Amino acid sequence: MKSDQSSGREGRPQVSRDSLQSLDEEIRSCNRCPLANGRTKAVPGEGPDRVDILLIGEAPGKDEDLAGRPFVGRAGSILDRCLNDAGIERREVFITNVVKCRPPGNRRPKKDEVEACRPYLKYQIELIQPKVVILMGNAATKAVLDVEGVTSLRGQVFRDMFLVTFHPAAVLRNGNLKEDLVLDLLAARDKAEGSRACHQKREDCA
Ligand code: URA
Repeated sequence: MKSDQSSGREGRPQVSRDSLQSLDEEIRSCNRCPLANGRTKAVPGEGPDRVDILLIGEAPGKDEDLAGRPFVGRAGSILDRCLNDAGIERREVFITNVVKCRPPGNRRPKKDEVEACRPYLKYQIELIQPKVVILMGNAATKAVLDVEGVTSLRGQVFRDMFLVTFHPAAVLRNGNLKEDLVLDLLAARDKAEGSRACHQKREDCA
């Protein structure tokens, strides 16, 4: 079994990374941080094992905690609409969060909680091998890139893979942001399709 050595050194149980399924099972019974005590269901994320586009949000909310699925509440409805407007099928992408259990009162996840969950996100990215990772909001951007300021960073691609955009909940609060979120999803789709075509033709498309 492949496992996460670094998390073992920190005194937390090691995380197996054999497959998305084993990761999923571990997440559902995880006790690596106190968020486990308050959850109804952990929310590992969902989507096919290999996809071109991986979306990362912040944390499950009330609806997600009850369902054990990501983005099924009001933010999920907006995300679904934006994906649709960008011509992306939800069933063709993988959707997950920085932390897999709901923080009390939907507060932002604490640093320790993000660190406890980090191996899961890391191995999801490694196993899925997406062409584009969409970081939705400040929590995802901070967790993955260690930078903040989505308003100024949105639309930018980092390390040729990580695209920053608004969190769907921000669109719920300010409908004017929807157009930008859709434009960013379109850019992600173009990038994923471009790199797939490039790969198929075995050309250097840099
Ligand atoms: N907000 C998130 O960040 N993730 C969800 O799954 C739902 C709402």
